[in-house]
Amino acid sequence: MTRDPPLHPGLPILGSLLDFQGNRAHMLLRAAQRYGPVVMFRIGPRRITLLAEPDLIAEMLTRNHDHYLKETRAMKMMRDGLGRGLLTNDGPDWARQRRVTAPVFRRDNLEDFASLILAGAQTQADAWAALPDGSVLDVVPEFHRLSMRIAGHAFLGQDVGPLADRLRESFNAAITLTTKRILSPFSTPLWVPTPTNRLMLRHVHTLDTSIAGLIRARRESGEESQDFLGRLMAARDPETGEPMSDAQLLVEVKTLFIAGFETVSNALSWSVYELGRNPQWLARLREEADRVLDGTPVTLARVRELELTRRVFAESLRHYSPIWAVSRVPIEDETVGDYRLPKGSWVFPSPYVLHHLEAYWPDPQRWDPDRFSPEATAERPKNAYIPYLIGPRRCIGEHFAQLEGVLILATLAQHASWTTLGEVEAEPFVTLRPASPIRIRMHRDPG
Ligand code: HEM
Repeated sequence: MTRDPPLHPGLPILGSLLDFQGNRAHMLLRAAQRYGPVVMFRIGPRRITLLAEPDLIAEMLTRNHDHYLKETRAMKMMRDGLGRGLLTNDGPDWARQRRVTAPVFRRDNLEDFASLILAGAQTQADAWAALPDGSVLDVVPEFHRLSMRIAGHAFLGQDVGPLADRLRESFNAAITLTTKRILSPFSTPLWVPTPTNRLMLRHVHTLDTSIAGLIRARRESGEESQDFLGRLMAARDPETGEPMSDAQLLVEVKTLFIAGFETVSNALSWSVYELGRNPQWLARLREEADRVLDGTPVTLARVRELELTRRVFAESLRHYSPIWAVSRVPIEDETVGDYRLPKGSWVFPSPYVLHHLEAYWPDPQRWDPDRFSPEATAERPKNAYIPYLIGPRRCIGEHFAQLEGVLILATLAQHASWTTLGEVEAEPFVTLRPASPIRIRMHRDPG
């Protein structure tokens, strides 16, 4: 017997429209606390189902992943700027791209990037450590710059040079403008020459011409490079032997920047925020980093020894899940468990909501990295923790993001010392962003 999930009450006609205009992540969490982990909403004729139950999420995203598409309004708007890349594509085209790209991102293929990340982190840590005692720092722009610098090197090679600032500015603008278009009920198609659309097209043009230029230059040089662009150029479809076209390379490189830039910098910003409120954890990380990062070249085995730092990053991804919800659309009338999901409706599996349910996370509003000790982890149901999602569409950049998160936090904790000023709320845009600046006060002498 199939049934509808419990309905979140709404207004006549508008349904839950106004609820979705406010802090949607908190609203969905409250709904799950009240009605259970599967809740139905209506906005006009549109039906939306929140999903925050580990087994049902696994059923949907793993066993039945090909029963769904990503055809929501938000995804169409993302395609306007990104084209059809790994993040935005669906069906057989997506499967082919994933097949070609997957080996590039395998964990054991990322060793080369560790020293590059460490060098970026070290520059940042030195700059923080050199600040006068008592200086106040705005954290988010710091991590925007750092993660863009690392992405520039890792994705496109050392030769980005003066382009880096232009790319950062245009990626930042494209993400902000796309978010604005997604959130506004009055957005027009991109070809309508409104000021927002014209600005968006200008930034997309800058990104396209800059990255296409780099791809062309790389082809002409014949150089084989180990950055992601070089690896993607060398990648071959295991079934057909075909390489990627330049047009596809452009889309995929843009996708990596968009998918990896704000997610990582937000996760780092929230980690620094919490470390500055939990000095005992900052001290534990410093002690660990002093022991593990002893100045010799860093290996993946060495990174694995940064166990406490891993817990801190993991807990920040739980409490402040950067991708707080994803969306899927059933291709036909569908079921998950015994719940009905009508064809064409929207389904929102939500890492944020799942990560705040008391059933899996006692005292969920408390930030406590020891939730990720091996013992505590073994006691939780599989799939209660899904910041990178699960199934075939799981984040392809997960291992790179982990490497970045852990190495940067360890290096900062080793060389700098800070306390956090004030409280900051989380606000759900495309990623879960800080609603106001995160400010920290630097202290001269770590430890
Ligand atoms: C802490 C940082 C990160 C988090 C929490 C995160 C989370 C996610 C999530 C939840 C998805 C699934 C989206 C969906 O299916 O709707 C995803 C997909 C993706 N992520 Fe990440 N991500 C992170 C960092 C990165 C980085 C650094 C890269 C690039 C190096 C990256 C590249 C991608 C790509 C290309 C996809 C699409 C994969 C596909 O559909 O086949 N991500 N990510």
